[in-house]
Amino acid sequence: MKTFCSFSLLLFAASLLMVSCAGESTVNGDAADGPNATTVADNGAIHTLPALPYDYDALEPHIDAKTMEIHHTRHHQAYINNLNNAIAGSPLENMSIEEMMATMSQHSMAVRNNGGGHYNHALFWEILSPNGGGEPEGALGEAIVETFGSFEAFKEQFHRMGMTQFGSGWAWLLVDENGQLQVSQTPNQDNPLMDIADVQGTPILGVDVWEHGYYLKYQNRRGDYINAFWNIVNWDAVSEKYRAAIQ
Ligand SMILES: [Fe+2]
Repeated sequence: MKTFCSFSLLLFAASLLMVSCAGESTVNGDAADGPNATTVADNGAIHTLPALPYDYDALEPHIDAKTMEIHHTRHHQAYINNLNNAIAGSPLENMSIEEMMATMSQHSMAVRNNGGGHYNHALFWEILSPNGGGEPEGALGEAIVETFGSFEAFKEQFHRMGMTQFGSGWAWLLVDENGQLQVSQTPNQDNPLMDIADVQGTPILGVDVWEHGYYLKYQNRRGDYINAFWNIVNWDAVSEKYRAAIQ
């Protein structure tokens, strides 16, 4: 009996160790892309998955429903789970996601990858709309023409940022510290809010050029995906972010 109990305890301890190791491997790496990312209960979670303001199939044919569902419920959720695990019990529990980005040089790679992943995807969902497309009007439209020469010239520069980002990452339109518009690119889940970004400022538009964002429909054709992206940009939402950023 004693031998059986000892063996059971050993098995129990081994299973705990395996769970612990699995958690570490997803939190520290960028295994948020993997299908078995760690999860924490939503009850009491520090950061939670924001609901999409449209259905998963609402952006078709530009982004297909399956991609949207997996992107939102698996990828974004995994970043959130891993972020919550990474900051549990630390002062970062009480820090806003924006403040976390702005002080990123002081945080771990787990916070950088997963905090960035959460921030970036939350912004991405906001700046898309089934009623999007066209060109921005008002102050943002004028600032784009003033900065880049024309809306078409801006699109070309933004497109180039997305195309030349080697591997996974993002292309951005941002407002810098002087209130000027700039385009930039960041690797992985970095973003312009981070104090480690090459070009820093407040992002108001971003396109996710990770393959998980387009591979099901576009395979290797990143350019086709970015071209389609313009049809679903919610310029009202981007204009609102621009107004807030220049205040
Ligand atoms: Fe993504």
